[in-house]
Parts: sequence; C-alpha cells; structure tokens
Amino acid sequence: MSSNILWHDHKVTRAERATIKHQKPCLLWFTGLSGSGKSTIANALDVALYQRGYHTFLLDGDNVRHGLNKDLGFSDEDRVENIRRIGEVSKLFTDSGLIVLSAFISPFTSDRRMVRNLFPAGEFIEVFMDTPLSTCEDRDPKGLYKKARAGQIRDFTGIDSPYEAPERAEVRLDTSAMSVDDCIDRLIGYLLERGLILRNDSSA
Ligand SMILES: Nc1ncnc2c1ncn2[C@@H]1O[C@H](COP(=O)(O)OP(=O)(O)OP(=O)(O)O)[C@@H](O)[C@H]1O
Ligand SMILES: [Mg+2]
Repeated sequence: MSSNILWHDHKVTRAERATIKHQKPCLLWFTGLSGSGKSTIANALDVALYQRGYHTFLLDGDNVRHGLNKDLGFSDEDRVENIRRIGEVSKLFTDSGLIVLSAFISPFTSDRRMVRNLFPAGEFIEVFMDTPLSTCEDRDPKGLYKKARAGQIRDFTGIDSPYEAPERAEVRLDTSAMSVDDCIDRLIGYLLERGLILRNDSSA
C-alpha cells in the first residue's frame, strides 16, 4: 500500500446513517454446502426484512463473479481473494447503515475468520446452513453434484474438497428439518433479540 494514502473520517457517521433507517448495521454471513439453502434462505430473509421496512443488500455467489471478481478463478489464492473482496464490500455496505446478507459456500474457517475480524463484535453473524450432504446431493438444484461425482468438476466442496464446519456459528439452520418459514422466524428472532432490528411488523 502507498504510504501517501490517509484514512479520512466521514462527516455523517455510520451510526447516524443507521439511525435514520431505524436499524443497526450487520452482516449475516450464510455458509454451507452447495444446495444447503444459502440463497433460498438469504433471499427469503431479504424479502421478509424489506416487507418490514428495513434496508438491506444481498450479495450472492456467482453474481459477484460476473463483475467485481470476474478476474478471479478457483485457485486457492483466488478463492481467498474472492472472499476478502466480498468481506470488504460487505463492510462498506454496513458502513452505509445497511443489513447485509451474503451467501457464499466459504468452506474455510480462516477465510470466514478474516471477514469476521473486519467487523466490530456482534455485527458479524455467521449463519451455518447445517444441511446434511445427503440432502444437498439429493436436491442437486444446479446438477453440480452429479457432475462432481462423474469427475466433470474437480475440487467440489463436500465431494473432493473439504467443508470446514463452523464450531461457534451465531445461528445454525438444518433445512432438512426446518421449513423456509421456520428459518426466517429464527433469523428475525435473532435480529430482534440482539436489537439489530427494532420491530417485527410487516404492515409497517
Ligand atoms: N427448508 C428449505 N430451506 C431452503 N431450501 C430448501 C428447503 N427445502 C427445500 N429446499 C430447496 O433446496 C435448494 C437449496 O438451494 P440453494 O440454491 O438455496 O442452495 P445454496 O446453498 O445457495 O447453493 P449454492 O452454493 O450452489 O449456491 C432449493 O432448490 C430449495 O428450493
Ligand atoms: Mg446459492
């Protein structure tokens, strides 16, 4: 980094930006195997929060690779850089007062910890989609497990690349046992309990 780059503070603080939105900024980081329900639940929560009048932004898997990260591939180095940039972008969005939802497999503990460390305590909420591999593989919504089993995709998480399960996730959801509505109730409950949102009224 150049030695001539100085940090400058904004006149409108992040707290002020959040207060005007009647919420506290945070990042809900969905992690789990492909097909575990990250996109489904993150999107449903995005809708539920929007209906309640909250200001959110959703960052989801492949979309980020079309733009911001289109120069990155799937080497170990590029995967780390992919998550690092997503973390930094999420940080900018929370600085603007938003509740950010991100849905990336993010299989490695060290990468998730790197993002967690960008945030003040309580603002990084790890949501572990603890859906069994067998269920994810039965669902196979993108047909990727089939290809991985046939050897057409290599280094596929859960098949021939490891998934390091979080040990202390703030929220754990097993979508083989919980409906989408159950998951949303749990997440809204968590946000209310922590004072990150202040009311649960979709008619507001
Ligand atoms: N209770 C449930 N919660 C979430 N998804 C469910 C549930 N029951 C069935 N499904 C289905 O499981 C699939 C989950 O796929 P989804 O795309 O959300 O996974 P993902 O974790 O985002 O995977 P990827 O990492 O490949 O993007 C969807 O087809 C969804 O309809
Ligand atoms: Mg997804």
